[in-house]
Amino acid sequence: MSLTDRECRAINQAKALLRGAGVWDVDGDLNCLVDRYIERSDKVRALDEFMLAVKERCNRIPLGHIIGVVEFDDMPLVVGSGVFIPRQHSKVIHKWLESNAALHPGTIVLDLCAGSGAIGLAIARRRPDLKVTCVEFDETATQYLKRNVDRLASMGVLVEHMKADIRDRRAFTKFKHRIGLIVANPPYVPQSQELLPEWSNHHSQASIYSGADGLDLIRQIISLAEELLTVEGWLVVEHGEGQATAVRELFEQSRLINVQTVIDKETSDASGSSVMSIGRKSN
Ligand SMILES: C[S@@+](CC[C@H](N)C(=O)[O-])C[C@H]1O[C@@H](n2cnc3c(N)ncnc32)[C@H](O)[C@@H]1O
Repeated sequence: MSLTDRECRAINQAKALLRGAGVWDVDGDLNCLVDRYIERSDKVRALDEFMLAVKERCNRIPLGHIIGVVEFDDMPLVVGSGVFIPRQHSKVIHKWLESNAALHPGTIVLDLCAGSGAIGLAIARRRPDLKVTCVEFDETATQYLKRNVDRLASMGVLVEHMKADIRDRRAFTKFKHRIGLIVANPPYVPQSQELLPEWSNHHSQASIYSGADGLDLIRQIISLAEELLTVEGWLVVEHGEGQATAVRELFEQSRLINVQTVIDKETSDASGSSVMSIGRKSN
């Protein structure tokens, strides 16, 4: 694409502004913003909107909330204020699924704390023979989840959605001992931990924090998994690198066996490492 002098100047200015604001992936964000806002027929309007977006990004509004869409595992997911922006880290789950889990066709899969539905939808796209349900409790996040489920259905990716609080056992009675795989990227940040403004100011507390040690929801998920998994069913949970030992102990204290921690440097990025714990329900 050939850019006018004015566009080049605006892009250079945007680069300086983003860098000055402390955005960590200036070139990546800029490429995305240029692609979204500069390559348009109404050039004057496009440039105005581009600079508005850059200013929002400088205020540390998450990029996904500004452009309204995020590419995850080759799927364009709609996102916006009130829903967690899926992180590429979560692909660690899909990599594991491809190479390790022998799941039979028809296996029921739950994506707990599903947010926009990224993890569950990516499983359904890769394994259309599985029956995936995405579970989320927040009203706004659920709206995005439903939009993504509907949008992706038109591309042949079929997933159910369910609005439920994972702490409410009664909501899950119908799944008792029927689930072959539970995946979750739950909130796992300790309450006192400081985060970049993208998360601390522009995401809901419930999507990020989870008690004093960050493990409250993970405890709930393990205990729910004990009830819902079939014998030899899998539990796969994302968490922070510094929580690996504690999560491993929680898995081992429950009825989960063959517990492993996976740290995947390939899917890690400047915002942190890609880490998950895996276990199987024992007899
Ligand atoms: C870290 S975000 C992850 C979202 C999604 N799994 C992803 O990776 O993009 C955690 C999600 O858990 C949801 N959540 C928090 N507490 C929950 C609960 N008790 N029951 C169900 N969902 C919950 C939040 O609303 C948020 O959407």
